[in-house]
Amino acid sequence: VRDVPNAEGNTVDDETHRPVALIDDDALLDDVLRLAAAADCAVDRVPDVPALRGRWSAAPLVLLDERAAAAAARAELPRRAGVLLVGAGPPGDGVWQHAVALGAERVLDLPDAEQWLVEAFADVLEHPGGTAGRVLAVLGGRGGAGASVLAAAVGRAVLRSGGRALLVDCDPLGGGLDLALGVEGETGLRWPGLRLSGGRVAASALRSALPGGSSGLTVLSCDRDGPGPEPHAVAAVVDAGRRGGDTVVCDLPRQLTDAACAALDRADLAVLVVPAEVRACAAATRVARRAAERGARPRVLVRGPSPGGLRSEQVAAAIGLPLLTSMRPEPGLASALDRGTFPDRSGGPLATAAAAVLRELMS
Ligand SMILES: Nc1ncnc2c1ncn2[C@@H]1O[C@H](COP(=O)(O)OP(=O)(O)O)[C@@H](O)[C@H]1O
Ligand SMILES: [Mg+2]
Repeated sequence: VRDVPNAEGNTVDDETHRPVALIDDDALLDDVLRLAAAADCAVDRVPDVPALRGRWSAAPLVLLDERAAAAAARAELPRRAGVLLVGAGPPGDGVWQHAVALGAERVLDLPDAEQWLVEAFADVLEHPGGTAGRVLAVLGGRGGAGASVLAAAVGRAVLRSGGRALLVDCDPLGGGLDLALGVEGETGLRWPGLRLSGGRVAASALRSALPGGSSGLTVLSCDRDGPGPEPHAVAAVVDAGRRGGDTVVCDLPRQLTDAACAALDRADLAVLVVPAEVRACAAATRVARRAAERGARPRVLVRGPSPGGLRSEQVAAAIGLPLLTSMRPEPGLASALDRGTFPDRSGGPLATAAAAVLRELMS
């Protein structure tokens, strides 16, 4: 058993946390092991399908060549994430059939997919336990509903609970989520500066490139100018955060752009923040309809005060969505935000609502 240090000084000394490979072709196996070594990741070779079966459910990644894939498909191994079919050169039709039968995540053609595979190995080291993070999407029922503030508050709640969060700003017209958090002075990339080549990025690389990475609350913000994110980039970033075990919180615009939908499609929970006002209900109903077209059914978080006496249950019923919770206004929030600080009162209405959202997300 090899002890392999990862970027954070942890070790992957438990065999269940190492990738396994069933690859007959020595040249191909050498290639795969060389790429794993480049990421400092130990890979176990298994000799046959019975040995593979023993490691099948726990290994963070399973690498199979065409023959192994055919054998695994015949053995009717259950579906799991992280199954990779590797081959030298473009895959033939047979490979695709096995990939479908196994529910493989990817068919990798080496050497073209080398970089992708190195990053996949790097992710394994970074998060040896392999527990994927959850993804939250936050939407506002109307402009200024408090969606961005709630997204930031949930990020803080994750930190308080001892976890790590990745905040992903998907609203290019929102002025930048870094401003809401009071970290706009911090160095690190914003969306316009982030160049993602290929469909995958390592969570560690992302964290070190973005503001807040060392604190455990990483922010990928839109900027005051420059383009917002492309859908494929949102997908790559959300997937990286999830694989890295972060709680990923996506702040979405009300106009569900393709980029916003890329986040919404990946969300384990969507929350619609709605002020307790009649017009906000009307606006939120339209946002809810858009989300429904995408197959999402957000839960409503009602934000007080309620000038006309609307109750939270009435707000949720008017929109036709389940109520998650409600919150009174956070005292002093607007002035704190203008001073460039984010209130960190763990017992206030905002933090309490954020904790409720987090509990729901993790349940
Ligand atoms: N929980 C809250 N309590 C009190 N005021 C809030 C709260 N959430 C938001 N606000 C106020 O509403 C403004 C807009 O919030 P924001 O989160 O940017 O809205 P959205 O992202 O939905 O457009 C904030 O600048 C703040 O003044
Ligand atoms: Mg916003």
